[in-house]
Amino acid sequence: MLHRVHVGSTSGGDSCAGHSRARSRAATSPIGGATIPGVRYGSSQRAPAKIVTSIAAAAIMARPASPSRAAPRPATIGAMSGPHLRDFNRIVFFTGAGMSAESGVPTYRGAGGIWKEYDYRRYACQDAFNRDPAAVWEFHNYRRRLVAACAPNLGHRIIARAGQREARVTVVTQNIDGLHALSGSRDILELHGNLWRVRCDTCGVKQQDSHEPREQLRCDGCGGWWRPDIVWFGDFLDDATLHSAKQLISSCDLFVSVGTSAVVYPAAQLPEYARAGKALRVEINPDETPASDLYDVHLRGPATEMLTRLADGDPHLLDPA
Ligand code: APR
Repeated sequence: MLHRVHVGSTSGGDSCAGHSRARSRAATSPIGGATIPGVRYGSSQRAPAKIVTSIAAAAIMARPASPSRAAPRPATIGAMSGPHLRDFNRIVFFTGAGMSAESGVPTYRGAGGIWKEYDYRRYACQDAFNRDPAAVWEFHNYRRRLVAACAPNLGHRIIARAGQREARVTVVTQNIDGLHALSGSRDILELHGNLWRVRCDTCGVKQQDSHEPREQLRCDGCGGWWRPDIVWFGDFLDDATLHSAKQLISSCDLFVSVGTSAVVYPAAQLPEYARAGKALRVEINPDETPASDLYDVHLRGPATEMLTRLADGDPHLLDPA
């Protein structure tokens, strides 16, 4: 089963190919981001019958009716005694751009978001690359420059250190910046690829590359264009990676979402698997998201502060070095 990236609408279709519809809906988007028609569901998911026009509504419609929705909404946590990372054996951190925001990496949506300034239709989809690969590379070299100037933050380090213990800790990230690996996390599933890897658009060969900027744009083997090995709008996610993420999330006992707007599918579907598997679910985000109802605990604040709270004074996790 292949899964294309798209922003929360709920019908099948194409992504960059549907620009005119996308544009008309984006104007009224509650998140201020781009809207792309074209939802694909995994085989275990119910496919809604129609496209809905609000991103928030779409995200809700994409979820099966759930007992937890009828249950009283858990309170946003202020001062509290738990949960604490040390009390769980199988932990999944599900991270988005907010995870790296305090490192200085811009998020995609909201104030200062990349998609506010740059049109993804010109820079982050295969059609754009086919039209003008040099322009797309210019944008990605700009992003390389931004990320290269950033270092992992305390939140990344807490997650990495939690993984050095007996508990099985997996990072399922939408981020392409590589900061989880840089902070020492080992068990990482990068749903949307990595900015520091390239792939030949013709022969498919891949290459790690930390140059900033990347100047070699033609494959030495076949002469095709190198493209960033990241998942653009309308691209398919790697099936094995997504499958592993679902498995791990289904069987974890603590699921912590950090800094994602929960509007980009199929990643935005993943918390459903944590709910089905009965994990305790924690959402870390200063703001409510369309997925907030899926969580048992809401930690409303920046990632570093809220992960510090989950670490609960544990000196091993909080070592600032
Ligand atoms: N701590 C925690 N969360 C934060 C912080 C912070 N310091 N700052 C911002 N956030 C939250 C915002 O409230 C928002 O909900 O992080 C979220 C960032 O949302 P997006 O910019 O939409 O990023 P993300 O959810 O990762 O986007 C998903 O969209 O364009 C695609 O492929 C791209 O992987 C990306 C996907």
